[in-house]
Amino acid sequence: MNLFKLSLLQALLLAVSGGVIATYSSSSSSDNNVWIAPGPTDVRSPCPGLNTLANHGYLPRSGKNISVPMIAEAMLDGFNIVSEALTQAAKFGLLSSFALATMDLDALKLHSLIEHDASLSRGDFALGDNLHFNETIFSSLLNSNPGVDYYNATSAGHVMHDRLAISLATNPNTTNTPKEFAFRTRESSLYLAVMGNPLTGVAPKQFVEIFFREERLPIAEGWKRSNTSITDEALGAIDNIIMANSNWTFTQMCEDLVLGPGLTV
Ligand SMILES: *[C@@H]1O[C@H](CO)[C@@H](O)[C@H](O)[C@H]1NC(C)=O
Ligand SMILES: *[C@@H]1O[C@H](CO)[C@@H](O)[C@H](O)[C@H]1NC(C)=O
Ligand SMILES: *[C@@H]1O[C@H](CO)[C@@H](O)[C@H](O)[C@H]1NC(C)=O
Ligand SMILES: *[C@@H]1O[C@H](CO)[C@@H](O)[C@H](O)[C@H]1NC(C)=O
Ligand SMILES: *[C@@H]1O[C@H](CO)[C@@H](O)[C@H](O)[C@H]1NC(C)=O
Ligand SMILES: *[C@@H]1O[C@H](CO)[C@@H](O)[C@H](O)[C@H]1NC(C)=O
Repeated sequence: MNLFKLSLLQALLLAVSGGVIATYSSSSSSDNNVWIAPGPTDVRSPCPGLNTLANHGYLPRSGKNISVPMIAEAMLDGFNIVSEALTQAAKFGLLSSFALATMDLDALKLHSLIEHDASLSRGDFALGDNLHFNETIFSSLLNSNPGVDYYNATSAGHVMHDRLAISLATNPNTTNTPKEFAFRTRESSLYLAVMGNPLTGVAPKQFVEIFFREERLPIAEGWKRSNTSITDEALGAIDNIIMANSNWTFTQMCEDLVLGPGLTV
């Protein structure tokens, strides 16, 4: 039954789309896309991928006033991602904002909109800081797939299992429905595909660690933007192996529907 609900959610994520990603003339043409740490007035999100795109100027370095077409263009330019499902997720992100068509990255910490418990690198909302990278939280991923120098979909599934077990043991407020599972799975296939090979789901540990810790593209260390498009089909194939290895069960079926800041039904 949980898997049925999960596929409903995935169908929903895909179905709302009109299928057209507007071309956005990105400011990155006048930006050389070098990594620059965020300044004191720049804002960042709970998501290392979006933060990396902002740190490299594929998104506004301020992290502010970001539209869905800007995110779609940045994902393509920075990572070679062409994903309807992720564009749909970005549309959800707009609900974090009071503005009509743009969002600020830090607003994405709004609990249970896109942000979720049992993150790979952030603490749970109810335990304090759900926005910033936390090395203790990250240790589950860091120490996974011992003995080899890469992470893969099997290890990613095990890490998802471990992170959820830690949340359930330490946070009585853990939210764990099919929606969280869908987002968590897709985030895991993304770090494998973006930092590694989207056709095999194998990613060098060194690249993944730089991506999470520094929110930087490890170009100096030999990383290259994927030479094949990272599509929903490719991510879905990795998702399936991750799900099979995560031994996931829901602890709630339904949760509050978050429609915006202070607007939960
Ligand atoms: C960003 O949005 C805020 C309010 O949403 C607005 O006041 C500001 O002028 C915008 N900045 C830019 C650069 O568009
Ligand atoms: C955690 O759950 C308890 C009991 O439902 C509730 O009183 C409390 O406000 C929750 N805390 C957070 C941070 O959501
Ligand atoms: C990081 O997470 C651990 C485990 O939840 C927590 O004990 C610690 O306070 C967090 N560190 C920071 C700086 O928030
Ligand atoms: C992931 O790597 C481990 C360790 O080498 C291996 O046992 C496992 O079969 C790999 N998983 C996949 C999907 O290749
Ligand atoms: C494309 O990338 C893969 C994975 O990194 C690599 O094995 C392959 O040689 C690359 N192909 C070309 C044509 O560069
Ligand atoms: C998988 O989850 C079930 C139910 O939570 C549990 O009984 C079982 O021990 C778990 N298996 C593994 C290998 O973790």
